[in-house]
Amino acid sequence: MERVVSGIRSTGNLHLGNYFGALKNFIKMQNENECFFFIADYHSLTTHPTPANLHGNVRQVLAEYLAAGIDPEKATIYVQSDVPEVAELYLLLNMNAYVGELERTTSFKDKVRKDPNNVNAGLLTYPVLMAADIIMHHATKVPVGKDQEQNLEMARKFARRFNNMYKHDYFVEPEPFNFGAELVKVPGLDGSGKMGKSEGNGLFLFDDEKVIRKKVMRAVTDAGPTVPNSPISEPIQNIFTIMDLVSTPDTVAFFKEKYASCEIRYGDLKKQLAEDIITVINPIREKILDNYNNEEYLRKVSRMGAEKARESAAKTVREVREIIGFKPF
Ligand code: ADP
Ligand code: TRP
Repeated sequence: MERVVSGIRSTGNLHLGNYFGALKNFIKMQNENECFFFIADYHSLTTHPTPANLHGNVRQVLAEYLAAGIDPEKATIYVQSDVPEVAELYLLLNMNAYVGELERTTSFKDKVRKDPNNVNAGLLTYPVLMAADIIMHHATKVPVGKDQEQNLEMARKFARRFNNMYKHDYFVEPEPFNFGAELVKVPGLDGSGKMGKSEGNGLFLFDDEKVIRKKVMRAVTDAGPTVPNSPISEPIQNIFTIMDLVSTPDTVAFFKEKYASCEIRYGDLKKQLAEDIITVINPIREKILDNYNNEEYLRKVSRMGAEKARESAAKTVREVREIIGFKPF
């Protein structure tokens, strides 16, 4: 049995990247492992949500976790800020995290490039808080998408460094995880890059059929293949990558053959993709709103989760304090 920890930031509705990179694995893992799944609302503060929408975002993600099938009887589901012990572990880990290594992470450099006017210290130390989330519960496996690979490397490094520093084999080094052979990167349909909230190209679990059809029909394509068996261009490969996740292998093979023989009609390809996405998300979407409006249920789930997560976190912080050398008079 593995110990599993993962979270998603509450910065907006969840999209197919979150689903296939993270959430779908959460649901499969909860049956046989000890799982902690949380909503990373402390992390969401790096982009400065207003007090008026902070809680709504958390509520939306919690409703989406439950709608997608995370079961509060099987996994511990909690809100990060309900476990303030994580802030203490973050503080302690920060003392051994070097500014140089934090500045060199690709996600930090990306964020600096995208928003040079908001390079706050929380962004710089984002991987430290993430490491605290993970090693707090001694996670061995962390289901995440490909974009989080480097953050996981940092978490391993901080765990190792703590152990070396205090000559104590205390923290476990966590591994990123996906049920497929490799970590997933879901592309956007705008030609290049990944699907993401900040990229503005999300296909959301909460999108209705009309919206999905519209977004998919707008996907960037090219002039079409003219030479048989030519390599697939990036925008078309992106469509196929998503199709691999939502459609049957027969469907994918059918369109790949059409591409190879230069008979493909992108309109048909997109129509099929839209329908297969709808099939995946419709049953989830229908439950999101019910959950969102069921305040009593959300309260019960989050309280139960906070209690279990805090128990695990308090034990870790107590032990860490002792290892570091804090002592009561
Ligand atoms: P976003 O990138 O939309 O802001 P987050 O950074 O909060 O989303 O990501 C939450 C989880 O979803 C992480 O495990 C991340 O790896 C995964 N994820 C996000 N976008 C993608 C994507 N396009 N492909 C695969 N996984 C993704
Ligand atoms: N950084 C992750 C993301 O952007 C969210 C996250 C925060 C996380 N803490 C974590 C993921 C711990 C896994 C484990 O998606």
